[in-house]
Amino acid sequence: MRRVEPGAVFEGRRVVVTGAGSGIGLATARAFAAHGAEVVCADIDAAAASRAADALAKDLGGTGHAAQVDVSDAAQMEDFSRNIISQYGVPDIVVNNAGIAVAGPFLDHTVDDWRRTIDVNLWGVIHGCRLFGAAMVERGEGGHIVNIASLAAFAPSRLLPAYSTSKAAVKMLSDCLRAELAGHGIGVTAVCPGFVSTPIARNATYVGPDVREQAVRDLARRGYPAERVAAHVLRAVHRNQAVVPVNLEGQIGYALSRVSPAAMRGLARWSGIMRNRGNRR
Ligand SMILES: NC(=O)c1ccc[n+]([C@@H]2O[C@H](COP(=O)([O-])OP(=O)(O)OC[C@H]3O[C@@H](n4cnc5c(N)ncnc54)[C@H](O)[C@@H]3O)[C@@H](O)[C@H]2O)c1
Repeated sequence: MRRVEPGAVFEGRRVVVTGAGSGIGLATARAFAAHGAEVVCADIDAAAASRAADALAKDLGGTGHAAQVDVSDAAQMEDFSRNIISQYGVPDIVVNNAGIAVAGPFLDHTVDDWRRTIDVNLWGVIHGCRLFGAAMVERGEGGHIVNIASLAAFAPSRLLPAYSTSKAAVKMLSDCLRAELAGHGIGVTAVCPGFVSTPIARNATYVGPDVREQAVRDLARRGYPAERVAAHVLRAVHRNQAVVPVNLEGQIGYALSRVSPAAMRGLARWSGIMRNRGNRR
């Protein structure tokens, strides 16, 4: 049995991380490798995936493999999962992390902005869960799936309507899947970080006012490193946690959304008003 039991270490575990070329995915791949896991670093950016996998061996003496895949593409994901399983075996842990952001008001989002966001952030997670989840069930030895959602899953916002919608769906998918797979010894976790200082703001698409430089500066200033999210991911698998809000705003947002959803809606209105005032100054 290869169940990921509380108390187990990650020595010899096979781990797949999507979006492992940068930010939270890169830090998570490194953290699992540092704890003895064999890690597949998957990314749409082939060079970034290779750099990540090479670094696992060079910096950490671990085992890393690189794979290029667009998580939003059903056919590519089917090939990817088939290849991974035939080359390395069924993964014990899958981290569906790859994600993108489109920022700006709802009325400035195009249909294509919505499609890309939902395709990568939601369909990418659905494909990962569907394909690797089925393989884990068939193997019959348990496992764990981590989906990287966000504070945006429960904090409405005037600036991230498509992104927040995709993350709310990821959080609900994780809860549904957790119930379904529990009987197979497979844990499912939704990790919900607040602001994390990664390149996501630089990589994002901005619709409406171009606030890219301000967003990049704000996220850098937040000073919350991806490595701390990675530590939460490992702990979540170790303890089989259902929902893991990460950092102060993540934890306060999660608590407030349960105690007073109306307060969260009020905050969303208020922060938009404050931002509009700031833009006019
Ligand atoms: N940084 C934050 O503040 C923050 C907060 C909460 C949640 N998150 C979530 O964490 C996850 C990682 O974000 P990050 O901050 O590390 O961003 P990032 O931009 O640093 O990294 C994202 C990675 O995903 C890859 N990627 C993008 N589209 C892909 C696709 N279609 N297929 C495969 N790979 C793809 C990119 O090439 C990149 O390497 C995302 O799901 C994001 O929504 C981030």
